Amino acid sequence: METHEIIRRFTDHFVRGGHTSVPSASLILDDPTLLFVNAGMVQFKPYLLGEVPPPYPRATSIQKCVRTGDIEEVGKTTRHNTFFQMAGNFSFGDYFKAGAIEHAWNLVTGSQDSGGFGFDPERIWTTVYNDDDEALELWRKIAGLPEERIQRRDGKDNYWDMGVPGPGGPCSEIYYDRGPEHGRDGGPVADEDRYLEIWNLVFMQDVRGDESPKYGHPPIGELPNKNIDTGMGVERVAYLLQDVANVYETDLVRPVIARAEEMSGRRYGADPVDDVRFRVIADHARSGVMIIGDGVTPSNEARGYVLRRLLRRIVRSARLLGVHEPVLGSFAEVVRDAMAPSYPELVTDFERISAVVRAEEDAFLQTLTSGSRIFDTAVTAVKKAGGNQLPGDQAFQLHDTYGFPIDLTLEMAGEAGLSVDEPGFRRLMEEQRQRAKADAAARKTGHGDVSAYRAVLDAHGTTDFLGYTDLTSSSRIVGLLADGVAVPAAGTGTEVEVLLDRTPFYAEGGGQQADTGVLRGDGFAVQVRDVQSPVAGLNVHRGVVAEGEARLDAEVHAEVEISRRQAISRAHSATHLVHAGMRRALGDSAAQAGSLNAPGRLRFDFTSPAGAVPDSVLHDVEDEVNAVLLDDHEVRAFTTTLDEARRMGAIALFGERYGDSVRVVEIGDYSRELCGGTHVHRSGQLGLVKLLSESSIGSGIRRVEALVGLDAFRFLAKEHVLVSQLSEQFKARPEELPERIGGVVERLRDAERELEKVRADAVLASAGALADGAEDVEGVALVAAAAPDGVPGNDLRALASDVRGRLGARAGVVALFSASGDKLSFVVATTEAARSQGFAAGKLVPSFAGAIGGRGGGKPDLAQGGGSNPAGVPAAVAALRSAVRSAATG
Ligand code: ALA
Repeated sequence: METHEIIRRFTDHFVRGGHTSVPSASLILDDPTLLFVNAGMVQFKPYLLGEVPPPYPRATSIQKCVRTGDIEEVGKTTRHNTFFQMAGNFSFGDYFKAGAIEHAWNLVTGSQDSGGFGFDPERIWTTVYNDDDEALELWRKIAGLPEERIQRRDGKDNYWDMGVPGPGGPCSEIYYDRGPEHGRDGGPVADEDRYLEIWNLVFMQDVRGDESPKYGHPPIGELPNKNIDTGMGVERVAYLLQDVANVYETDLVRPVIARAEEMSGRRYGADPVDDVRFRVIADHARSGVMIIGDGVTPSNEARGYVLRRLLRRIVRSARLLGVHEPVLGSFAEVVRDAMAPSYPELVTDFERISAVVRAEEDAFLQTLTSGSRIFDTAVTAVKKAGGNQLPGDQAFQLHDTYGFPIDLTLEMAGEAGLSVDEPGFRRLMEEQRQRAKADAAARKTGHGDVSAYRAVLDAHGTTDFLGYTDLTSSSRIVGLLADGVAVPAAGTGTEVEVLLDRTPFYAEGGGQQADTGVLRGDGFAVQVRDVQSPVAGLNVHRGVVAEGEARLDAEVHAEVEISRRQAISRAHSATHLVHAGMRRALGDSAAQAGSLNAPGRLRFDFTSPAGAVPDSVLHDVEDEVNAVLLDDHEVRAFTTTLDEARRMGAIALFGERYGDSVRVVEIGDYSRELCGGTHVHRSGQLGLVKLLSESSIGSGIRRVEALVGLDAFRFLAKEHVLVSQLSEQFKARPEELPERIGGVVERLRDAERELEKVRADAVLASAGALADGAEDVEGVALVAAAAPDGVPGNDLRALASDVRGRLGARAGVVALFSASGDKLSFVVATTEAARSQGFAAGKLVPSFAGAIGGRGGGKPDLAQGGGSNPAGVPAAVAALRSAVRSAATG
């Protein structure tokens, strides 16, 4: 049964059972406790916690999940995927244990003809939490399972929570017995390889505190409802139903292995070591594409780092399979084709996805080349010294300077038979992190610990943001923090963080800078310098108490600094226009990879597979954008569903939370983007947009910078003054300037060349005299002399060749010295006749080098070098003379 069919049957089964089918959430749902969504329930957390009333009593979803905790296991076991799909059904205070067991049992064992998976009921085992007799009884009654196939397990196995404070509950798991050839008898408690877990039913009823009930700590409360959260591993079910050897050989993953076989010419199944590489490639290619699909780009932090690591492991594995050309683009195509039936956005977004992987691969191959050299040198040094461990500072340098992820260093060291001083490496990393943190703290107050914010969130809910329409508001202080700790009041001069029930202040996000302004209360004022959102939904105002004493619960009048906000909004609207213009000019691969909207200026980063954007294109984009300003389009913001927004062709800004509704900002019909930022009302308010520069910021990402409004005008005015000055100086009209300046530069260059030639001629003019002064040393014509001071190396060489030429067919040795301050250069040349007598220029160098404190070398016909003792030239000449003499006579 194909994976897409498994998904279809799961969804149909639960829709028939009265569940609303909810699309998968983005992998990067905005939850500060998670890097990636790792379970189906994550998007339903607010319903489970009772923060938001659930819009439906029952739901079902196929959730994209990423778990990279076991990345080292990938390819080595039968069942570890970094990306997988969790099929789930959810009840929010509706059915409970009996319903969950009945729904799951019917689907798992229902015949394939009737839409089920058709697993043999005799091979199904289940587990229940410790003393959950109720669940045990239900398995007997509903499924007719004999008691010996229902096993009791403790919290470690049968209590589920997210690993952080939040919803949790005891659970019951469904296992399939793959048969005695796969391991020991005795059910899941005895062998989890033979008995493969396929489905986890969580009876979600508790609120877990800092410590998990998994390990015996009691829950800190009850959820408002008894809920059901289940997760069935789609890939595991596919692996069983497709009767293949592991999850990597299922229909959606195996095609990547096939492509890797084609590229490498090696066969999967031929060599166990290669097989692990094939499987790593297949698994990681899929995760990588899905993660990029949701808007992550490779970087050295957090999600970006996980992605980078996955992609780089693919490239490394391919190299170990003998493939040296780029592979990622090709693997991405295979993943797209396999996954597209369930994730059509992989097709529409493919240009962007493929640009990201290609750029990362280019960057990594460069890194590999330069880093591998450093690595090899380090390994040789360690081995030569008889050691067996690569020092931590070397690993750190490889990481810091060459972008080698530590796991790559570990892997390569392992291959070279060395270990790595990991604690040393981690210590250096930690030191670097501390330095960065100290830096950041010096710039703005910020606290890594979000618990104080969470407490405010729990007590008062999210901040109501009024700033799309209002720049002032009457608000109440619901949280007051000094040094990251809640305080009841704070006096003049204190650095504080203020949380309000509602605010017009925009928190930095989506590339838009924060608002500044003031909060005025009865007898006090807080100057707001920055607004951040360290926890989703909360706007934290950072600043200083400028007068009086700020108090928790006080009413304040919040006022945004209008001119700054307006200038930022202009920049943000301009960014949308530039983005739209770039896409029109370059195609959809010009996708936004980052942006900055500051007062009067903007920065826009985008993927550009084709490299630099030609000036002519930039001019056209600038022209078009300014024409859009003149058309004075209305700027409209509205909320709609994500599907509707996509249908309208709105550009999705990745990293945003895709809830049920999204905010779309459109500028006439020129630009339409998902965006949470603030904007002008009409495009005409921007006045003018001036693109300044375009440059690479690495990895296939380009950056344009632009000025907006008065800042753009002032820039142009300044340029105008500059041109007028030049025009005056060069006595030319502005349009003649390039030609005039070009002419001047060319004449200057000619003059310099002329001067150079005159100088060289003067040097060469001495050649005749030097050749005439050749002394005869046992039949060898020796010219050993000081040339004029300060003759550059090139000229000294030319002079020596010239002198040698003048010696003709004679056996001759020419050695010329030229001092420049306390440094000395020398050149030695030999004639052909001298060489046939065994004279070699390079070999003569040591005979006199000592006298001038120098060194050098070269070929038999020409050698050169330098020294540090110009006073030693006469001694060097004498030494050379006797060397020539003894060679000629000996
Ligand atoms: N949330 C449960 C899990 O991830 C279903 O296993």
